[in-house]
Amino acid sequence: MQVWKDYQEKNKDRFLNELLELLRIPSVSAKAEHKPDMIACAEAVKQRLVEAGVDKAEIHETAGHPVVYAEKMIDPAKPTVLVYGHYDVQPAEPLELWKSGPFDPTIIDGKIFARGSCDDKGQMYMHVKALEMLIQTNTLENNIKFCIEGEEEVGSPNLGKFVSANKELLKADCVLISDSAMISLETPSLDIGLRGLSYIEVEVTGPNRDLHSGVYGGAVANPITILAQMIASLHDANHHITIPGFYADVLESSDEERKLMAEAPFNEAEYKADLGIVELWGEKGYSTNERTGIRPTLELNGIWGGYTGEGAKTVLPSKAFAKISARLVPNQNSKKIADLLINHFHTIAPPYVTIKATLHHGGEPYLTPIDSKAYQAASKAMETTFGKIPIPVRGGGSIPICSLFEKELGVKVVLMGFGLDSDNLHSPNEKFDLANFYKGIETIPYFHKYFTTP
Ligand code: BES
Ligand code: MN
Ligand code: MN
Repeated sequence: MQVWKDYQEKNKDRFLNELLELLRIPSVSAKAEHKPDMIACAEAVKQRLVEAGVDKAEIHETAGHPVVYAEKMIDPAKPTVLVYGHYDVQPAEPLELWKSGPFDPTIIDGKIFARGSCDDKGQMYMHVKALEMLIQTNTLENNIKFCIEGEEEVGSPNLGKFVSANKELLKADCVLISDSAMISLETPSLDIGLRGLSYIEVEVTGPNRDLHSGVYGGAVANPITILAQMIASLHDANHHITIPGFYADVLESSDEERKLMAEAPFNEAEYKADLGIVELWGEKGYSTNERTGIRPTLELNGIWGGYTGEGAKTVLPSKAFAKISARLVPNQNSKKIADLLINHFHTIAPPYVTIKATLHHGGEPYLTPIDSKAYQAASKAMETTFGKIPIPVRGGGSIPICSLFEKELGVKVVLMGFGLDSDNLHSPNEKFDLANFYKGIETIPYFHKYFTTP
């Protein structure tokens, strides 16, 4: 619509400057030292929503970081869209690998470099500006609610409780989230699924204290070696996961679904070159997109033990540790897989060591049916602004609250992400292309329009 185009054109520099302001707040949810920044960021998000024209905006305290809730209700008889996003970000470390400060947003070649630029402040803010645009051009025809949390990057430990306790407040006809990626501006896509997560930590203990590796080495099992052997045994030569029962509940995709997936463009040479690797790795019998989309995986996220400081220390350590997570697909269950992982370590541990395995956060996988009203509206909105029907794809990441929204609110979640896989999420030099930011603001109003009047 021309009025939207004109409004965006007139205000685009201000939209960007406002986002840069938000990106300057180091809202790292994982670190206690950033608690004041979390509060400041929640306040800033609330303030921006007020300025955009909502008629109610509140900060809800939780046992952790606050949730920002806001709404613009024009007519309770009209459809209501609940927009979810998160204002928290991942830690920025390792800092020395950033080309500009993670909280000093810098624009280079049309890209905003900053922690949270894409995940998720930049994408969340597109919705705030789209609302402003709808209100200012007098074209809002539905109700919009916002639920912006501050704990997504630490597993949303308190949001579930907030949602269950505020079902009436959050009542909506669908949930709209921009916190994922698309293939490219030339090849738009929509995530129709996200994977679940089971995250555990393993502590392996050998001797009751650190030992001199010359005096005892050779006679006492080294917990690092034992842990490494156990970890190495988790995949076989075909890169299948060896844990009995791990694949038991996996919903296999039909040949037809796999054929459709294979139609999404994928350039293996570019993919490898971008990552600086010579050969791809993964479960035999599946393509790269299938490996990250429809198949469950097991990844080591961290491993440590013994001496890792400067210089050399000849020590046979008492303990070794690992952080391990599984990505899950429908119909796997997060708790069930976590229990399976924990039990498996107890089963395979040799008598030289004892095992302590504990559960971190988890979350269930999610699938959006492409025949749902919400998906159809998103598809039509993207088709309007990109000139092409978006390709439905399965995203590899996780947003644990999706399955909870569906369960608690009884509505579908649609994932209309405008990021790119190459945006360096959770990594140094995270970025968000300005073109994607503006494309998102341009597309979101059409979602509301088509959801209200299909
Ligand atoms: N926005 C991501 C999830 C995502 C990324 C979905 C790319 C689709 C494509 C989200 O902020 C995230 O990082 N989630 C975590 C899970 C959470 C429990 C820490 C993840 O996927 O590791
Ligand atoms: Mn995110
Ligand atoms: Mn993230």
